[in-house]
Amino acid sequence: MTFPQRRPRRLRRTPALRRLVAETRLGVDDLVAPLFVREGLGDPVPVPSLPGVVQHTVASLRKEAAELADLGVPALILFGVPERKDAEGSGASDPDGIVQVALRELRDEVGDRMVLMADLCLDEYTDHGHCGLLTSDGRVDNDATLERYAEVALAQAEAGVDVCAPSGMMDGQVFAIREALDDDGFEEVAILAYSAKYASALYGPFRDAVDVEIAGGGDRKAYQQDWANVRESLMELRSDVEEGADMVMVKPALTYLDVLARARAELDVPLAAYHVSGEYAMVHAAAERGWIDGDAVALEQITAVKRAGADLVLTYFARSLAERLG
Ligand code: PBG
Repeated sequence: MTFPQRRPRRLRRTPALRRLVAETRLGVDDLVAPLFVREGLGDPVPVPSLPGVVQHTVASLRKEAAELADLGVPALILFGVPERKDAEGSGASDPDGIVQVALRELRDEVGDRMVLMADLCLDEYTDHGHCGLLTSDGRVDNDATLERYAEVALAQAEAGVDVCAPSGMMDGQVFAIREALDDDGFEEVAILAYSAKYASALYGPFRDAVDVEIAGGGDRKAYQQDWANVRESLMELRSDVEEGADMVMVKPALTYLDVLARARAELDVPLAAYHVSGEYAMVHAAAERGWIDGDAVALEQITAVKRAGADLVLTYFARSLAERLG
């Protein structure tokens, strides 16, 4: 007896057939929009290395959030750019600091229609550009930084944040933040931990967006992960879940799809991926030259991130994808 020939192309013949058998569906509900707000601005300022992205004023931020909510985007993550930076990154925990002001305004604008997340770190606020406090010999002091992160978490919680997202890669940061929030009655504020965050060369445009330069041409390799490692990420992810993270993140996304896939297989908490500034900028740069179709590549890339295991994707394409996905 001969078996009929397998013909996978039968199911690829029409758009409707392809839709019917698609294993991965990217939808508006999967998207988180990263937004930048800068203190003391009169008008929004475009970020040249991130086409379509601006440093918002509080007023333009409110408008953007309302439009994203109307498009059905369920969440945004906020990054602040303070007017003044100092060694302790005071602006990050100031009740009148830019992110705290913006959170109150956003809640007033969108209510509970959108999840308000805030990046929780010091680098946008420190004059040396590191994610933590420095010791006298210039190293990042892990445990002193944890105390600052706890203060930032409380300031964000007071301002009404739904989700704190610690991104500084200090050991024990999730536990320190969870404990501070619970002690002050903010048990309902959730934590999205940047758990597996690599010392990537893909954050360049982001640093333009937040006016960050690391002192002395330094880098973050003493706290962010070495891109050679994957088992290390699994340890980081597991320990963040044990410390109380409600959701965990892998960052960047495309260069680390293996990390995402392994994290998905091992963990049951919601898994986020951050398609970062450099990933976005590369698509735009090539599209501007007519070398690729930027819209098609964006859809392919973000779908791939979901296929690898992400439940939610932080992406600068959030708005344009929401407009297209409907
Ligand atoms: C740190 C932080 C960074 C990004 C998100 N949070 C920069 C860094 O670690 O240097 C990068 C995001 C991107 O490149 O889009 N607060």
